Amino acid sequence: MQQQQLFERVGQTVFGALAAQPADALLALIGAFRSDLRADKIDVGVGVYRDLEGRTPVLRAVKEAERRLVEGQPSKGYLGPEGDVGYFDALKPIIFGASDFDDRLSGLQTPGGTGALRLAAELIARARPGARIWVGNPTWPNHPPILKAADLSVADYDHFDIVAQRLTFDRMFSALGEAVPGDVALLHGCCHNPTGADLDSDQWTAIATLLRDRGVLPLIDLAYQGLGAGLEEDALGTRIMLDIVGEGLVAYSCDKNFGLYRERVGALYAVSASSQQSHIVQSNLLSLTRANWSMPPDHGAAIVRVILEDAALNADWRTELAEMRNRIQQIRDLLAQADPVLAPLAKQRGMFSTLPLSVADVARLREVHGIYMPSSGRINLAGLTPQTVVPFVDALASLR
Ligand code: LMR
Repeated sequence: MQQQQLFERVGQTVFGALAAQPADALLALIGAFRSDLRADKIDVGVGVYRDLEGRTPVLRAVKEAERRLVEGQPSKGYLGPEGDVGYFDALKPIIFGASDFDDRLSGLQTPGGTGALRLAAELIARARPGARIWVGNPTWPNHPPILKAADLSVADYDHFDIVAQRLTFDRMFSALGEAVPGDVALLHGCCHNPTGADLDSDQWTAIATLLRDRGVLPLIDLAYQGLGAGLEEDALGTRIMLDIVGEGLVAYSCDKNFGLYRERVGALYAVSASSQQSHIVQSNLLSLTRANWSMPPDHGAAIVRVILEDAALNADWRTELAEMRNRIQQIRDLLAQADPVLAPLAKQRGMFSTLPLSVADVARLREVHGIYMPSSGRINLAGLTPQTVVPFVDALASLR
């Protein structure tokens, strides 16, 4: 068709019905930071780990696993919608420990934790169209859009008081007390994004008991295992929850703890009430996968499998993970020491904390000090170094 004719029909075409969408505010920070020419700019925006030089390194264990894959991988043939089953199985003891769900545990590899969440949302929607899902306030800003994309109805429970910097457990507990059988509750397994405020084991037990008693299905987003207090410690809440409720979904990501961000390495695990139900769940996951991405990308999951199946690489990965974790904790401690206002950050865990800053404060930090963070006031601790802690704290103090 001639261009002129096409122009005339613009309003009637399929694309003509679209409204422009705003760019994702968090991801837009990547470009904004890149184009800032100030040498002393600080990026505490998007959640990627950075070393002391500000780089997001490829882990040694990953490099070695990639080398082995390049040299030894026998085929690039399709694996199927379940992805790399060796990868999926190798993660199980890390996530579930001694908890033995036997043949009640199903699931598959997904493109990142986001893919796992989207698949979980579609599974829930297929089981109960329009089901209500409870999410924390605040939560990862991409949670509601993912859940709404599957037409779930989103309700919220208070998780954290940003001004007081404390978990609002009582409010969370009473909000979830309003949940009815068939509802779903989304919880962060560890390293709460965006507040770093996790439940302790008594609180996990209390919430798990409440959900079980009310017939609510837990969906746990476990995207930062090992970056909080340790691999075992960070899995504790997930294990308590699944042991008590006996059913649930875990959206897992290896993007952060293996530093494989752009490879998009995730998995969705489902614990069902019986082995028969587990088979039905798995058949639904397979068909939903086929209708979405058909089969997940292989490379990142194959890397994780190679690492976890090799004792030396496994040990090296754990060492590197501990280095990342300790570096983040060091920054937390330095911030807490540098300013009493920031003292609560030492007790929070993982890459993120959220500071009580206004949108104007955040804009001022960016414009005057070259400090980049989302307007929510969330900071990625791994964006700081011992050298930048002081200018960062001074910039915050200048707002008061
Ligand atoms: C974040 O919260 O910064 C990360 O999970 C990156 C993302 O996709 O938002």
